[in-house]
Amino acid sequence: MYSIIPDALKEVLKRAKSVVVLTGAGISAESGVPTFRGKDGLWKTYRAEELATPEAFYRNPALVWEWYDWRRQLIVPLSPNDGHRAVAEMEKKFENFLLVTQNVDGLHRKAGSSKMLEIHGNIWNVRCTKEGTVKECLDVPLKEIPPKCACGALLRPHIVWFGESLDRQILDKAISVTEACDVFFSVGTSALVQPAASFAMMAKEHGAYVVEINYDETPISDTVDLSLRGKSGEILPEILREIIVS
Ligand code: OAD
Repeated sequence: MYSIIPDALKEVLKRAKSVVVLTGAGISAESGVPTFRGKDGLWKTYRAEELATPEAFYRNPALVWEWYDWRRQLIVPLSPNDGHRAVAEMEKKFENFLLVTQNVDGLHRKAGSSKMLEIHGNIWNVRCTKEGTVKECLDVPLKEIPPKCACGALLRPHIVWFGESLDRQILDKAISVTEACDVFFSVGTSALVQPAASFAMMAKEHGAYVVEINYDETPISDTVDLSLRGKSGEILPEILREIIVS
């Protein structure tokens, strides 16, 4: 059967013991989740600084929550696609595997991934602005906007907003595993938002074979070892097939 996977990647996959997959909004696009920067991307219609910053939240928490509640309503009927499922299978095939996702939609977990870091948080979790406690909130739509904690303080989405730092432990783990991996996949991300945008080059500098899977060219396309242009829901299952036969 014809395969779009070049022999060089097949060889690398045969020997690989440690694999990292970084994903962005593109992997969920085929499930129907809007991306951020594409033609119909969220940041084409909405202004990030009015909706995804701590300043925006404290200025108008109801507006920010209405937007997140709308996104939750968009996502709730959606299912993982073949790309998410291939990544979930990949974690069973390597001695060391880590999925680092920038996505907050929860679709990787729904597909069965467990060795995973959600570096930008999760849209189904809420955090108390006073106590810092995190809990799952699956109410769709939300019962009250803005929602409040039992302690009376405002709840906020457990998401890393612009101007905020990533959780230090999560970031340290993502970096140390990236620096130690044999193969690094950058999937469906525009590679524009730091720190995740630097992970592919970090892996390459530490000797990993770096593969990009993206519908379009990105700032890292020319520097990776292999750039596979197309849909992640089609390419990742092909890569999984190679891993299974090798
Ligand atoms: P972007 O919307 O910036 O980029 C999505 C990428 O996916 C683009 O490069 C598309 O070409 C590609 N793409 C679209 N459909 C695809 C498909 N079917 N197969 C493969 N690639 C496809 O999304 P991210 O890179 O994830 O942060 O954005 C990073 C962060 O910016 C997000 O996590 C979010 C945003 O602001 C927060 O909300 C904190």
